[in-house]
Amino acid sequence: MKESEKSYADWRPTLEKVEQYLVDQIQAYSEENRKRTGEGAYEHLIYRIKSAESMDEKCVRKGVPVTAHAAMKELYDAIGLRIVCRFIHDIYTNIEYIKKIPGCRVIREKDYIKNVKPNGYRSYHIIIELQAPFEDVEGNFPGCFYAEIQLRTIAMDSWASLEHEMKYKHHIRNAELIGTELKRCADELAACDLSMQTIRNLIKEGNDGKE
Ligand code: GTP
Ligand code: MG
Repeated sequence: MKESEKSYADWRPTLEKVEQYLVDQIQAYSEENRKRTGEGAYEHLIYRIKSAESMDEKCVRKGVPVTAHAAMKELYDAIGLRIVCRFIHDIYTNIEYIKKIPGCRVIREKDYIKNVKPNGYRSYHIIIELQAPFEDVEGNFPGCFYAEIQLRTIAMDSWASLEHEMKYKHHIRNAELIGTELKRCADELAACDLSMQTIRNLIKEGNDGKE
């Protein structure tokens, strides 16, 4: 098959290799952190390649052609990682590390922690461009690939999964009340995240030099 005839689905094995490269880098960083401080850099990490079905749907929604080229050059989340952290501060240290990954360039950042979405959604989104030793959809070698990384605390993550579930329950009664209550929960969880960070800082200060 000619490269130009490949569909988005045909690119999956390549995308998986690029994703694995990224995951390996981030896991190695967390391990290194664990050796140095006794704690991993995050609580857990999940990742996925966007399915052909949702990619087609997204191309249509974004008004780009339903082609492998548009899927991998005009949209940026064929590769998606989510890093779930214990504390807010850890999100920012992970971001600093990601920016130093060889071949990685940040092309977009959205801080929904400082700029909370009206529904209460909080997370830090970063879109990166990654040079990797695989041919890309334009025939470049090394290829240029994109990935979306979402970073959140455990509290933000539990809220987002509940809210995501609600989104698909369209004909729900009390939608407005539920929205208001979800927003209130998001804000209470955010207050807890701040308190937990403060407690953690106090524990660390108390431990200085005594590890
Ligand atoms: P997409 O068209 O989905 O890519 O949105 P976008 O280009 O405006 O990007 P954005 O960074 O806002 O959102 C991308 C992803 O973040 C979504 O696919 C979700 O995984 C997550 N996300 C963004 N907003 C919300 C939200 O309000 N609730 C939940 N549960 N997840 C969200
Ligand atoms: Mg997006």
